[in-house]
Amino acid sequence: MTAAFVIPKALQGGKLRLRPLKEKDAPALLEAIEVSRPVLRRRLRWVDSVQGIEDCKAFILRSLPAAEMNEVVLGIFEGRAGRLIGVAALQNPAEDGAVAEFSVWVRADRRRRGHAFEAAKALITHCFRKAGLRRLYARLEPANREGRKLVRKLGFRYEGRLRREKRLNGRWVDQECWGILREEWRK
Ligand SMILES: CC(C)(COP(=O)(O)OP(=O)(O)OC[C@H]1O[C@@H](n2cnc3c(N)ncnc32)[C@H](O)[C@@H]1OP(=O)(O)O)[C@@H](O)C(=O)NCCC(=O)NCCS
Repeated sequence: MTAAFVIPKALQGGKLRLRPLKEKDAPALLEAIEVSRPVLRRRLRWVDSVQGIEDCKAFILRSLPAAEMNEVVLGIFEGRAGRLIGVAALQNPAEDGAVAEFSVWVRADRRRRGHAFEAAKALITHCFRKAGLRRLYARLEPANREGRKLVRKLGFRYEGRLRREKRLNGRWVDQECWGILREEWRK
């Protein structure tokens, strides 16, 4: 497999810094999840499986940079204090890392400030420029208005809808498909 993704040591996105998570970030990660649990749970499947520090450490260990996996998972840190406010990722790579799935979440009390947009821009720019990425896609349930607004603002295009594609905390939900190609990102 080609190692298409160059995992950045750190990226700057406006006032945000993105870097791989470290084991010492586990308490901050747990806190970010705890303050956001009800809203995150509505959108993301993994939330119930993270209940304590050990779960966060396990997630961080799994997310550590592994270029051969063609995945990038970065913590989003804000301000001088470097407070962890979310996670941005490119995962589920296909075609030797030329195609990947984008996702991002921001803690509930730091939303609507443009943070997801800035963090996503930094990560996506890096991967289209420095990695062999050609196509990025996102999957959203139709009720996810905030997610749709974000990906549309980033330039993703709507590509269709998969019916009852995913089981989300007990509900079968449709999935909207959104995608962007490298040549579209340059514009
Ligand atoms: C989706 C999510 C990451 C947005 O984070 P955020 O930091 O609030 O997003 P931003 O502040 O960068 O906003 C980006 C755009 O979305 C809009 N937006 C954000 N939250 C919104 C909401 N609740 N309702 C309507 N629009 C919203 C913003 O207004 C902005 O557009 P604008 O500049 O035209 O106003 C956040 O709500 C989240 O963590 N959701 C759960 C995870 C998820 O669903 N991720 C899917 C993305 S792949």
